[in-house]
Amino acid sequence: MGTKGKVIKCKAAIAWEADKPLCIEEVEVAPPKAHEVRVQIIATSVCHSDAHILHPQFKKALFPVILGHEGAGIVESVGPGVTEFKPGDKVIPLYTPQCKKCKFCLSPVTNFCAKLSQFKNPAVGQELMEDRTSRFTCKGKPVYHFMGTSTFSQYTVVSETNLAKIDDDANLQRVCLLGCGFSTGYGAAINVAKVTPGSTCAVFGLGGVGLSAVIGCKVSGASRIIAVDINNGKFAKAKALGATDCLNPRDLPKPTQEVIIEMTNGGVDFAFDCAGGSEAMKAALDCTTVGWGLCTLIGVAAGDKGLTISPVELIMGRTINGTIFGGWKGKDSIPKLVTDYKNKKFDLDILVTHTLSFDKINEAFDLMYQGKSIRTILTF
Ligand code: APR
Ligand code: ZN
Repeated sequence: MGTKGKVIKCKAAIAWEADKPLCIEEVEVAPPKAHEVRVQIIATSVCHSDAHILHPQFKKALFPVILGHEGAGIVESVGPGVTEFKPGDKVIPLYTPQCKKCKFCLSPVTNFCAKLSQFKNPAVGQELMEDRTSRFTCKGKPVYHFMGTSTFSQYTVVSETNLAKIDDDANLQRVCLLGCGFSTGYGAAINVAKVTPGSTCAVFGLGGVGLSAVIGCKVSGASRIIAVDINNGKFAKAKALGATDCLNPRDLPKPTQEVIIEMTNGGVDFAFDCAGGSEAMKAALDCTTVGWGLCTLIGVAAGDKGLTISPVELIMGRTINGTIFGGWKGKDSIPKLVTDYKNKKFDLDILVTHTLSFDKINEAFDLMYQGKSIRTILTF
C-alpha cells in the first residue's frame, strides 16, 4: 500500500511566471532516483530570497518553478544507494549542499561546496536534479526545482547531499527556520564575523535574517548592538533580542554611517548588511571603524546595482566579507543547532509572527512585502 517507488500526487505552490501570485496546484512528484530522497514537508516558511526570483528585474529565473528553501519534514522514501537516511527520519533540506568530497567540503574554513559552482547563479541554481531532469510535473509540464530544496510542496525530492537528519523530537514548525533565515543571520555573527565579547556591532535590516544576526551578536557577548531599519515596527523585537540602540535612516538628519561613527567614537567593530540594497551595504561598510572594522554582507536584492568600494576604505584597515548560509556546513551543523534550540541556547519562537495553512501562501508573501511579518510558518 505504501507510496515507495510510486508517483505521489500532492499539493504544491507553483510560480508560473514572474510578478504573479503563486498558484496552489496538484503536482506529480516522481520517486527518488539514485542518491536522492523524497521528503514530506511538514512546515515551511517564506524568506525574502523566494521573492527575489519573482521580481521582474531578476531576469535569470526559470519558470514554472516550485520555490521554498526554509522547510522541515519527514523522509518518505529513499532512492538506491542512500544509506544516511531512512523513511520516518526527520530532516531539514539544505540549499547549501555538503558533498563531503570536494576540496571545499574537506576544508574547515568554508561551508561552500563544489556542487554549488556547477550552477552559474546559486540563487536560481540547483533547478534540476543531478541528471538534469526534474522530479515535478504539473498539468503535463515539467516544473523546475529551486535551490535544490523546493519546500513549497507537500512532497519534494532532494539530493542526499542537500539534506540534514535531525532529532526525532524536533519541533518541525520551529526548526524549519534553521533551513535559512535563522542559520544565515546567526552564523554570520558566530562563524563568519566571529563577533568578540565586549565588541560593538551594527545590524542593517531587521527581518528574520537581521534579527538572527542580533541574536548571534548577543550570544557572542557584544556589549553594544545598534539595530538599523527603515521600518520602526521592527525595533521592539530587536530590543527584546538584545539591541541596545535602534536607528531609522529615514528619521536621521544625516547619513546613518555618520550617526553611528559619532555614537561609537569612530565606528563599530562588526557590521552586518541583512537588508540587501546598495545603500545599506555602503552604510554597513562605512560605519565600521578604521584599523580593524569588519563588514559582513548577507543580503541580496533583486536588480540592485551592488556595492562600490573605494580602495582607501580597505587600506585603512577595514575588511569586508560575505556568507552563504551563515558559514555552516549543513549536514554537520544543522543537527547541532536543532539540539541548541532544544537546550534553549536561542529562541526561534520570537521570529514567528504568523502561522497559516499552506493554501494561504500568497498571504505570507504579502505580509512580508508589507513589512508586517518576520516569519510566517506554513503548515500542510
Ligand atoms: N536600511 C535598513 N533596513 C532596510 C533597508 C535599508 N536601506 N531596506 C530594507 N530594510 C529592511 C526592511 O525594512 C526589512 O525589515 O530590511 C529588512 C529585510 O527583512 P526581510 O524582508 O524580512 O528579509 P529577510 O528574509 O530577513 O532577508 C534579508 O537576506 O537572504 C537575504 O535575500 C534576502 O535580501 C534579503 C536579506
Ligand atoms: Zn562539497
